[in-house]
Amino acid sequence: MIIFQLTNKELPAIAGGRPVRDNFLPYARQWVEEDDIEAVRAVLQGNWLTTGPAVAAFEREFAARVGAAYAAAVSSGTAALHVACFAAGVRYRDEVITTPLTFVASANCALFLGARPVFADIDPKTYNICPEEIEKKITPRTKAIIAVDFTGQPADLDAIRMIARRHNLVVIEDAAHALGAMYKGHSVGGLSDLTVFSFHPVKHITTGEGGMVTTNNEELYRRLLLFRNHGIVRERELLVENQGPWYYEVQDLGYNYRLTDIQAALGLSQLKKLDRFLARRWQIAAIYNEAFAALPEVEIPCSVPGAISAWHLYILALHLDKLAKSRREIFEALRAENIGVNVHYLPVYRHPFYRQLEGPGNCDRQSFFCPRAEELYERFITLPLFPAMTDQDIADVVAAVYKVITWARRSR
Ligand SMILES: Cc1ncc(COP(=O)(O)O)c(C=O)c1O
Repeated sequence: MIIFQLTNKELPAIAGGRPVRDNFLPYARQWVEEDDIEAVRAVLQGNWLTTGPAVAAFEREFAARVGAAYAAAVSSGTAALHVACFAAGVRYRDEVITTPLTFVASANCALFLGARPVFADIDPKTYNICPEEIEKKITPRTKAIIAVDFTGQPADLDAIRMIARRHNLVVIEDAAHALGAMYKGHSVGGLSDLTVFSFHPVKHITTGEGGMVTTNNEELYRRLLLFRNHGIVRERELLVENQGPWYYEVQDLGYNYRLTDIQAALGLSQLKKLDRFLARRWQIAAIYNEAFAALPEVEIPCSVPGAISAWHLYILALHLDKLAKSRREIFEALRAENIGVNVHYLPVYRHPFYRQLEGPGNCDRQSFFCPRAEELYERFITLPLFPAMTDQDIADVVAAVYKVITWARRSR
C-alpha cells in the first residue's frame, strides 16, 4: 500500500517551487532483464538469425497465449496493419473505416494499398470507435473496419462484428495497445477476423521493433505469409508451373516484413513475463483510479463491464470548465515536475498530411470531422504507466497531479 504524501500546498515547479522529483520519469519504457539478454545472445551464437526456429516458436507461443489458431510475426505493428489490410482484400479505391483517435498507422495502412480511410467518431465514455457511427459511414466501397482497442480497452467487438457480418466487411482489430486484454471472458487476439499487435518498446512486451497478426482463418493466414515475404509461393501444389526443387514463384506484390530470430528470442522471453507485466499495470491503474476519482477537475478512464483493459495508457480527461489553466499549461506544469506526461492523440485527419488529402473525389472535411474525438483530444493528458515503475514513481505522479491541479483549480 502506498501512502501518498500530497504536497498540494506547495508551489508547482513551473511557478518557482521545487519539482516533485529530480529526474525525468518517461510515460512508458521497456523492461528488459538479464534472461532476455541471454535469450538474444543464444540466438546470436546459433545458426539462424532470421526465418528460423525462434520466429516459429514465438508465433506458436503467441497464438496459444491469445487464443488464436494462427500467428504471423512481422517487423512492426505498422507492417502488421499493412499485411492485415492486404489479407483482408483491401485494394485501390476501397474504403476502410477507423477511429480518428489513434496512432496514424491505423489509418495509413489503408492508404498504403490505395484505399481511403474514413473516420467514424468515438464513444465519449469508452473513447473507442462507436458502432452507430460506423454504420453511418458504410458505403458500397467499404471493405474493412479497423477497430482500435484504444489505451488497451477492447472496442465494442460484438456490435462491430454484427455490423461487419451484415455488410460483408472484414474486421481488423488494432490491438497494439491491448495485448493481454479480455473481452467477455476471451483474450483479445482470437475474436476478430484479424488482430494486430505491436512490440514497440512502449508496448506490453517488446522485440525492439516488431509486430504480430493473429487469425483463426487459414486462408487469411496464408495471405499474411505471402505479403510478409515478397508474395513468394514455394508450396509445390500452389505453383503455376514447377521447374525443379529450387523453384519458387512471386504470385503477388509483397514486402520484406519478416521479424528476425534475434527479435523473436527477445519476444519469447518477454512473453513469459506478460502476466507479471499486466498485473503491475492493473495495480498502477487501480492506484491512479483511486487517487484521481477524488479530484472533481479530472475524469478517470471508464472500465467497460465485461472487458478487462490491458492498460497500455492511462489518460485523464480534464474538466476545463473547472480549471483556470489550459491543458497546455497543466501539461507544461507536470513536465516541470519531471513527470513525462504525453497526449494521445491528435485526431488523425488533423495532421497536415491528412489535410492535404481532403478535396474533391478524395476526402472532404465534413466526412472526416469527428466532434467527440476533437473535444476529448483537447482535454486529454496521458500519465506515466509501465510495469517497471517503482512505488515511489507512482507516488510522485499522484503527488504531481494533485499539486498541479490544486494550482490550476478555479477559485470558488
Ligand atoms: C494503435 C496503434 N496502432 C499501430 C501502431 C504501430 O505500431 P509500430 O510502432 O510497432 O509500427 C501503434 C504504435 O504506437 C499504435 O499505437
